[in-house]
Amino acid sequence: MKRILITGANGLLGQKLVDLLTKQPNVDLIATARGANRLPYADGYTYRSMDITDRQEVLAIIGEVKPDVVIHGAAMTDVDKCEVQKDACWAQNVHAVEYIVEACRATNAFLVHVSTDFIFDGAAGPYDETAEANPISFYGWSKQAGESVVRHSDLRWAIARTVLVYGIAHDMSRSNIILWVKKSLEDGKNIKVVTDQWRSPTLAEDLAMGCYLIADKEAEGIFNISGKEVLTPYEMAIKTADYFGLDTSLIAQADASTFTQVARRPPRTGFILDKSRTVLGYDPHSFEEGIAVLASQLKPKEA
Ligand SMILES: NC(=O)c1ccc[n+]([C@@H]2O[C@H](COP(=O)([O-])OP(=O)(O)OC[C@H]3O[C@@H](n4cnc5c(N)ncnc54)[C@H](OP(=O)(O)O)[C@@H]3O)[C@@H](O)[C@H]2O)c1
Repeated sequence: MKRILITGANGLLGQKLVDLLTKQPNVDLIATARGANRLPYADGYTYRSMDITDRQEVLAIIGEVKPDVVIHGAAMTDVDKCEVQKDACWAQNVHAVEYIVEACRATNAFLVHVSTDFIFDGAAGPYDETAEANPISFYGWSKQAGESVVRHSDLRWAIARTVLVYGIAHDMSRSNIILWVKKSLEDGKNIKVVTDQWRSPTLAEDLAMGCYLIADKEAEGIFNISGKEVLTPYEMAIKTADYFGLDTSLIAQADASTFTQVARRPPRTGFILDKSRTVLGYDPHSFEEGIAVLASQLKPKEA
């Protein structure tokens, strides 16, 4: 039996991890998140409220649970908000990692830390695990600093880096490119979509699986855990329209410079997955298969 504690259980990745890990017969799951449990069901795991910015709480709960593995997915993930609320961002994405590392050291737990393609400047994607980080946003900088805390610790650790995660989660207002394109075209709206950014969009279920494979094998080092295709948002929009049989003529091409956003975005990221495939047996869905997974989870009125 492996005892796994996850942080950020109410988030998109967190919810998918709870789904996946409660189905594993050899896993004893402790799901932690800030405040009340917002997960749709309570069976098959233990819930503990844990604010990752509260050092005493992190040390007390991880010290009490004594997990074999901690999967640390919680973070301040709103890139524009991080640019404005720098102190809050640093507390959640860097100091919190210091507390988790300290707690893992005290309990000898293996740490799986979740990170992002936004640690790169996006000049030369797709990237492998050895590429040099050079963040261009405060979020990216904070996540790189979080990685650095993990890499310089004396723990047994892994870093799971991911890219543009999409999926459907319970009780979350957050949309994603697939739902946005689908809704806009169904409403007959014209949309402008960027052609000069490249990403490997990641189905949230695939990210959860990648984290689990790492946790199960306690595989050390950095792993790219993303979708397998490098696409522009425009290409993602066309694939979405095609899948749902919607009118692609409503989709216009645009440059990223058309949109004003608070934080800068790396133009060309995307990941090379050779290491994760070989070492972990990671095998993600295609974007089209990911749309089908998401479509199967829509409530009847949305489908
Ligand atoms: N989403 C993406 O496109 C993307 C891309 C690359 C990397 N990542 C990384 O993937 C990981 C998972 O992201 P996600 O997509 O699942 O994001 P998410 O849905 O925003 O989930 C993050 C969770 O972290 C929780 N959290 C924030 N501060 C906390 C605190 N002080 N104590 C406890 N929990 C706290 C949030 O809690 P509340 O719900 O209470 O706010 C939220 O549920 C993150 O590390 C992120 O940096 C995400």
